[in-house]
Amino acid sequence: MKSHVVVTLPLPSAVLDRLNRSFDIRLWSESEPIPEATLRAWVTGADAILCSLGTPVTAGVIASSAQLQTISSISVGVDHIDLAAATASGLPVGHTPDVLVDSTADMALALMLAVMRRIVEADQFVRRGEWGSGWSTDFFLGTDLSRATVGIVGLGPIGRAVASRVQSFGAEVIGWNRTTRQVAGVRNVALDDLFEAADVVSLHTAATAETHQLVSADRIGRMKPGAVLINTARGAIIDEPAMVRALQAGKIRAGLDVYDSEPLSPNSPLLGLDNVVLVPHLGSATRATRAAMIERALDNLASGLRGELLPWCANPDVYAKG
Ligand code: DGY
Repeated sequence: MKSHVVVTLPLPSAVLDRLNRSFDIRLWSESEPIPEATLRAWVTGADAILCSLGTPVTAGVIASSAQLQTISSISVGVDHIDLAAATASGLPVGHTPDVLVDSTADMALALMLAVMRRIVEADQFVRRGEWGSGWSTDFFLGTDLSRATVGIVGLGPIGRAVASRVQSFGAEVIGWNRTTRQVAGVRNVALDDLFEAADVVSLHTAATAETHQLVSADRIGRMKPGAVLINTARGAIIDEPAMVRALQAGKIRAGLDVYDSEPLSPNSPLLGLDNVVLVPHLGSATRATRAAMIERALDNLASGLRGELLPWCANPDVYAKG
């Protein structure tokens, strides 16, 4: 008998064909996230969940099926899954590290350059037909990455990939990691000092209880006037109202891929600000990277359903429980 897998998001038809060949799948194909009550009902009696960001897999969802063998997420971050509840239930959770490092680092660079050189503002200016006079010495002036000190918060694979990219632009790089990590060309500093010294702060930590609002009002207050805050990690790492106040006061600039609440509300005060560049959680959004993430998630799913170790497990301590 085929294993019963709940799939919480639409997927390319070729991927669904593969899933259908091996499993009995129940697919949520709407663009809005599956409501929790529906997910609980669907998971009742299921053997596995294939999910991604946007679908909270709560302790209640996990408790809905005594048969669950694994949860596989098409993401590296697993803050949408109650990892403690999964581990307590003996459920390995699969995720998709490594394959999105370069795409996410590229997005951080794209946001830095867009903010520092005012690309979006200038594009809108041209499209509005406001480019009335010619070149002048003080027209749309920005700042240089090559002259900047870039502070990397989190020196994991993505943080290190951003460090090497900005080094190649000539920037000086300072870094902070929860457990000190030596990275070539990166000077380790205390977190508060990083916020005080950097012209650009780029965030690359996972969202955990420890990193919740790590970028506090106090740390935002320490940033240099005109400094740039880049977030391609998770919205919960920043005290978003404090960041909005600093942006509204014109004290800092920002490039954001992720937000406290996604999708961003149409009433968000961020939408009215021209010192921030906003993209809708696209860090890993390239064809090749998404295909690689899906492959890893399918490998994790199949391994979990065969009772084998997941190749990319987000809660390896689950195996220590025996
Ligand atoms: C992830 O995989 O966690 C990323 O945020 C997706 O872009």
